[in-house]
Amino acid sequence: MSTPTFIFSLLLLLPLLFVSLASAANGSWQLLQKSIGISAMHMQLLRNDRVIMFDRTDFGPSNLKLPGGKCRNDPADTALKVDCTAHSVEYDVLANKFRALTVQTDVWCSSGSVMPDGNLVQTGGFNDGERRVRVFSPCRTCDWTEIPNGLAAKRWYASNHLLPDGRQIVVGGRGQFNYEFIPKIPVANTINLPFLSETNDKGIENNLYPFVFLNVDGNLFIFANNRAILLDYVNNKVVKTYPTIPGGEPRSYPSTGSAVLLPLKNLKASAIQAEVLVCGGAPKGAYLQSLKGVFMKALDTCARITITDPNPKWVMETMPLARVMGDMILLPNGNVLLINGAGSGSAGWEQGRNPVLSPVLYRPNNVIGSRFETQNPTTIPRMYHSTATLLRDGRVLVGGSNPHAFYNFTGVLFPTELSLQAFSPAYLDAKFKNLRPTIVAPKSMSGIRYRKKYTFQVTIPGGKVDGNSISVTMFRPAFNTHSFSMNQRLLVLGNDKVTALGNSVYNIDATTPRSGNLAPAGFYLLFVVHQDIPSQGIWVKLS
Ligand SMILES: *[C@@H]1O[C@H](CO)[C@@H](O)[C@H](O)[C@H]1NC(C)=O
Ligand SMILES: *[C@@H]1O[C@H](CO)[C@@H](O)[C@H](O)[C@H]1NC(C)=O
Repeated sequence: MSTPTFIFSLLLLLPLLFVSLASAANGSWQLLQKSIGISAMHMQLLRNDRVIMFDRTDFGPSNLKLPGGKCRNDPADTALKVDCTAHSVEYDVLANKFRALTVQTDVWCSSGSVMPDGNLVQTGGFNDGERRVRVFSPCRTCDWTEIPNGLAAKRWYASNHLLPDGRQIVVGGRGQFNYEFIPKIPVANTINLPFLSETNDKGIENNLYPFVFLNVDGNLFIFANNRAILLDYVNNKVVKTYPTIPGGEPRSYPSTGSAVLLPLKNLKASAIQAEVLVCGGAPKGAYLQSLKGVFMKALDTCARITITDPNPKWVMETMPLARVMGDMILLPNGNVLLINGAGSGSAGWEQGRNPVLSPVLYRPNNVIGSRFETQNPTTIPRMYHSTATLLRDGRVLVGGSNPHAFYNFTGVLFPTELSLQAFSPAYLDAKFKNLRPTIVAPKSMSGIRYRKKYTFQVTIPGGKVDGNSISVTMFRPAFNTHSFSMNQRLLVLGNDKVTALGNSVYNIDATTPRSGNLAPAGFYLLFVVHQDIPSQGIWVKLS
């Protein structure tokens, strides 16, 4: 190659180099699988770094055959009585591989929680699946087991939450203005919750998949439509009624916004504060308009409230992008990622338009007005029935999108999406390698207890480490579907002491949360965060 040609080639390369660096600064996207054969409508990360996904059984044949020539014989199925394809998979994050799982009955628009033992207990669905309870124990060859009539009532579009006593609560669902517990003790029973009928907009609903969070006082914060209550579920008493979000626009399915319990901090304080952030949704009328082919702009506001305040008030903020059907994912460093969804229309078949391709980062600790930052866009629309979940390595796994009743890959505006992608937030950039902690010991912990001090040994390659900017966090992996991550919470343990041992090795002492109200028992991902840059997580079991 002559010198001028060489220089010319270099010049050609420069923009490429620049693009990849620039794209890393606001996060980057990676296609993991072009097709896993099913559309990931529901997702849950389990303690073996595998993600359980499922869609529904009555979509017709999926693109993934059941192994060994197996077929499902289901006379009650509305699409196929004999179906030799899978509607659930287990995705192995570390190997980037997947295998087919077998659901026997319809799991469409259902809900679930991982129990303290690490087993996923899923509840409900549609048709023959509406009262099923299904259990998945994580192991290399395990499959679903199903419990007929495991639920007292049919549950479709309900929300679940794990409780401090180790049971899970199942709240609402279509036509169900009540809740129940799993396991049911001593018998299946439903308990009325008038709040769910009060928030039900006739003919539209706007109160399904309610946003349910366990408050630090052990009561449940339940948000539906445009308002919330604090429920003492033990005595079935509403102990607080929160104001309506200013403007009164609906935020729950099908006017689907999203919500998170913001990271819980200062865990040793006698009174711990808890805040909830609700973002996006569709304005009043959007659902009915979208059925007529008119797609109203999604909501571009978030509402934030301190749910532990004696006199709580919503504080409004404006997002850079309007979003309906978005997901809100807590990141290990305490920031929130808004991802997936549409810029107009509503949840429902073919009812969303203008895919929002760019995620947005929200920094809860910044001053109002400087919290949002738009991230680099994907090329794949993730509309109705898309999902997102945080992985142990800090990436966010994204899948699904199927705004029609079948596996339609052509002839529709937004084809059924079988791919999996990962979004890598900017904290994963190579340029932060000197700041990034690596947890060297322990590699995992099976028996951490409440209110106990533990030592985590990390390496941080960069020269001077500021002990004030090191924090230990614990993340509870969530059951994600329909823009809501059930059980998602992040506990900021901070640090009690940082000891430099030389050679870039540090011991970090941190104290676990004091009770199951703060952190229900079970598996968490524990991270060490240094100057906003998280380590990879380790699995810990809190009991
Ligand atoms: C990241 O995005 C922000 C806008 O949200 C922009 O101001 C900034 O220049 C971007 N950074 C890079 C390196 O692309
Ligand atoms: C979608 O798939 C279903 C079932 O195969 C079929 O009946 C329907 O016509 C398809 N829709 C379009 C728009 O292709």
